[in-house]
Amino acid sequence: AIDISKLRDQSGYITLDPGFKNTGATKSAITFLDGEKGILKYRGYKIEDLAEKSTFLEVAYLLIFGNLPSKDILEQFRTDIKRQMMVHEDMKMFFSGFPSKSHPMGQLSCLVGALSAFYPESLNPNQSEEEEYKTIINLLGKMPTIVSWIQKKSLGHPVVYPKKDLGYIDNFMNMIFGEVNCDKIFDEAVLDAMRILLILHADHEQNCSTSTVRIVGSSNANLYASVSAGINALWGPLHGGANQAVIEMLEDIKNDGGDVEKYLAKAKDKNDPFRLMGFGHRVYKNFDPRAKIIKKACDDVLEKLGVEDPVLDIAKGLEKAALSDQYFIDRKLYPNVDFYSGIIYRALGFKSDMFTVLFALGRLPGWIAQWKEMRDNKEPIGRPRQVYTGETSRQYPDTDHR
Ligand code: ACO
Repeated sequence: AIDISKLRDQSGYITLDPGFKNTGATKSAITFLDGEKGILKYRGYKIEDLAEKSTFLEVAYLLIFGNLPSKDILEQFRTDIKRQMMVHEDMKMFFSGFPSKSHPMGQLSCLVGALSAFYPESLNPNQSEEEEYKTIINLLGKMPTIVSWIQKKSLGHPVVYPKKDLGYIDNFMNMIFGEVNCDKIFDEAVLDAMRILLILHADHEQNCSTSTVRIVGSSNANLYASVSAGINALWGPLHGGANQAVIEMLEDIKNDGGDVEKYLAKAKDKNDPFRLMGFGHRVYKNFDPRAKIIKKACDDVLEKLGVEDPVLDIAKGLEKAALSDQYFIDRKLYPNVDFYSGIIYRALGFKSDMFTVLFALGRLPGWIAQWKEMRDNKEPIGRPRQVYTGETSRQYPDTDHR
């Protein structure tokens, strides 16, 4: 029981809401979601429409600046971003010091944070609109290149530079897979699956990483530092790290004989910490609208690529078994977007530890939009309170009496 007198401080009562399950931290005009009805909209546009009709950069512009761009504005936005895709060669000096097996998310957060050292003008919290635009474009342009460096390093391959005649996603795929795997990369189904994945991940209101970006930015920290913090928040397996955890779980099930019922029983056992990765969501309690869209893209791309993979059969078996299991039905636990995204990334040839980095690439416009909105709203520094439960008064003992 909580002693109500402890909730009082000089400024009134404190709301105690661990995990902020029911506490709004801001007003926002970017993303709307209704967890009960399974609705997700960016700036008022349905995610289904955007996933069907928009390019990723159109969606990025929409999230950051509030409206879908006209043809001319979009062209300018694309060109501005393309011009910033090269990453300063000096970044390679410390990048080469990372062990080749270090986790891609650790590398990504360091490299994005380091951009603030290369572009110190971003440190000015009173940047003009034009200067802020340059910082935003710079980050949007460099992120795919940085992600490709990380992939290349893990393979021991030389980096591939961005090309001026390729679009954002084509350029990214070319830098990731090099010139060797060209047929597969430029297959329409593959590029479309990447486009859809990036759009579906582009924003999701005040989740753990986005709240982190806003709270770090609320101290007037620069965009690169704020996004770098968001990348670290995304890394955890209960958030963006779930897409890697899904594939690893499926591999474990396969290596353990492929018995999905055994793992369902583990997930239901309250004495076992195991959870079914890729199932459940803090907000969506009926279905995840992104999962519906991505499931279709997943089927398309697997068929197109003719992928035969025992891990995918395990995934299908697990999905079917969980959806008809009373424990999962009662708790409204459905496959989330991460359940399917990992399957697609694997089919495209990404290593599982790159999956969360790909999530970050998609989430970048959302983080930028939320950081910008927080600044435009002149929000105060984020500073939650607590209910103190420790000792109230202790005599200081010298070292002989501890
Ligand atoms: N497997 C088994 N049981 C689960 C799972 C799961 N994946 N998720 C929730 N439950 C159970 C809980 O044990 C709890 O049961 P109880 O009522 O008997 O105690 C009940 O469902 C409610 O769970 P909470 O943890 O209270 O739900 P919460 O909203 O806090 O957590 C979360 C949501 C973190 C996503 C959770 O469902 C989970 O851990 N899922 C697996 C990890 C995952 O897929 N994360 C990706 C999220 S989506 C994203 O970040 C893009």
